[in-house]
Amino acid sequence: MSVAQNLTAGGLDDDLTTASQISGLRILAVSLSIALVTYAYYIRRNRKILESSIAEQHNCKPVLPYVPYKWPLALDLLKRQMEILASDHAFEGFTPYFNIAPTCCIHLFGATGYFTSDPENVEAILCTNFDDYGLGSRKMAAFPFLGEGIFSQDGPAWKRSRELIRRQFVRVNQQTPQAFTQHVAELLSRINEEADASGQVDLRPLIFEYTLNTTTDLLYGEPHSNMEKTQREAVRSNFDYAAFVFAIRTRLADIAWIYNPPKFRKACKSVRDWATFFAARAMKYNDDFGEEAATEKYGFIIDLWKEMQDFELVRDQLLHVLMAGRDAPASLLAWTFFHLVRNRDIMERLKREITTVPTEGDITRDHIRKLPYLRCCLNETLRLYPTPPLNLRFANKPTILPRGGGPDGQSPVLLSKGAGIAFSTYHLHRNESIYGPDPGVYRPERWEDGELIKKAKPGAGYIDFNAGPRLCLGKDFALMEASYAVIRVLQAYPNLGLAPGVPNEPVGAEKQTYTVGLSPKEGVLVSLG
Ligand code: HEM
Ligand SMILES: *[C@@H]1O[C@H](CO)[C@@H](O)[C@H](O)[C@H]1NC(C)=O
Ligand SMILES: *[C@@H]1O[C@H](CO)[C@@H](O)[C@H](O)[C@H]1NC(C)=O
Ligand SMILES: *[C@@H]1O[C@H](CO)[C@@H](O)[C@H](O)[C@H]1NC(C)=O
Repeated sequence: MSVAQNLTAGGLDDDLTTASQISGLRILAVSLSIALVTYAYYIRRNRKILESSIAEQHNCKPVLPYVPYKWPLALDLLKRQMEILASDHAFEGFTPYFNIAPTCCIHLFGATGYFTSDPENVEAILCTNFDDYGLGSRKMAAFPFLGEGIFSQDGPAWKRSRELIRRQFVRVNQQTPQAFTQHVAELLSRINEEADASGQVDLRPLIFEYTLNTTTDLLYGEPHSNMEKTQREAVRSNFDYAAFVFAIRTRLADIAWIYNPPKFRKACKSVRDWATFFAARAMKYNDDFGEEAATEKYGFIIDLWKEMQDFELVRDQLLHVLMAGRDAPASLLAWTFFHLVRNRDIMERLKREITTVPTEGDITRDHIRKLPYLRCCLNETLRLYPTPPLNLRFANKPTILPRGGGPDGQSPVLLSKGAGIAFSTYHLHRNESIYGPDPGVYRPERWEDGELIKKAKPGAGYIDFNAGPRLCLGKDFALMEASYAVIRVLQAYPNLGLAPGVPNEPVGAEKQTYTVGLSPKEGVLVSLG
């Protein structure tokens, strides 16, 4: 009897019994394995049969263009991706991949993943077939940073969060834009403070402070200044770093866990402590002064608490909304100023338009409504620099992509359950068939006669704030926040211009940084004049 058999048999001494027991065990093990393998095989086969019958029914064809790679496990692509991200042209560097075809695939481990910038496919993913898709691995990528919340939930949990947070925006939107008055005044005084002797200043960090301050104040019910200075300042760099690692983890998708450095864990803790500070203040106020008073002052937090009754879940939702509320509007403002100071005609025209707004007192919705050219500028910025520039979904059941299959790329495509598909809003928004022969020019006029938006179709060719059931909840907030700041900065600094010696490259050649959104890598250096 071999050592192995001895071990399995547990060292029984009756050879005959042992032998028959062993063979019994073996037969059992072998039959079990066969049963399992067969079961898995049948499940997979049934799924395949089901999927090919759907494919046949809808005339689906496979996607032929693919991303080539040389190294096993496509490690060369991963390396290339990291190189592009670290380069000066963080997102623009991916353009060659999106130029392969409107819809393209990558084969890995016998699975197929997809990329698309085709408006018909984007519409199917976000709107028409919304229920067939989920966020998949985003939850795992986000968890150490943000915990559980609207940004990474699907299904009923997401619906519940969305309803809860939507209610808050109904209330907050009644307070804006007037609620931005103080913050914009603060922004102007910070610009003044930071300018050097020759009147030069980098607007980018001040813009990020502005959006952080407004979001904290309006949603958390407590101005950022109520937190101690060193703690407040530490959180800014920690938030940036954690968001950066989160962005890398998102790109690693299912293998996000491989990238979890100690510095990241530390940064996440600091960011969470920061949200804890605000949530705890609201809860204490609730204990001291009762629910009615607390709801008045901390509407968002108290409402979340009433619904969830769990301090950590409340804190996490605050982080999710902050994550959404800081970087995207900061990116919008930074790129808007970036191009205004580089395009004198656009700047002059915008300045003429805003002379209708009184320079004193609150700016109202009515004032902003009467500034159509400003709105064109904001649409133009969001066209060229959408947040996020790239987004990812996973099919949660077999589903049909309307286009991309067959030799001409015009046939529908069947996505298997679990397949991932990335869509590039950045490249979608630079499509010549939609935006004309000059998609790489910052030209707000293209929006003016209202024809372009009809041609692009919100939700298909233009998805500035996402589309469909997951449309951004902060859209109105962000547009008011950005409009208010642009108006007052241009009024306060009518000679605002590009700082001397700063390059003015064509769109696409400018240096970009890519974390959650894109921002100008070398900041927004302006001269106050
Ligand atoms: C220019 C500024 C903004 C842009 C371009 C923008 C864009 C987007 C996009 C593309 C999504 C969908 C993301 C996804 O795939 O799940 C989204 C979702 C969301 N945004 Fe915004 N956003 C902006 C500002 C804001 C602000 C200021 C807030 C809050 C203060 C906010 C709150 C949210 C929330 C809560 C969601 C989640 C909606 C859901 O999953 O149902 N956003 N936003
Ligand atoms: C650009 O848009 C057109 C019109 O919708 C579409 O047919 C084409 O595939 C798009 N191009 C890319 C590269 O996505
Ligand atoms: C943001 O808030 C901090 C703390 O209250 C304040 O010191 C800073 O000036 C504010 N910055 C801007 C740009 O509003
Ligand atoms: C700007 O984009 C929005 C979609 O967010 C659209 O509804 C609006 O009509 C556009 N404005 C112009 C002037 O095209």
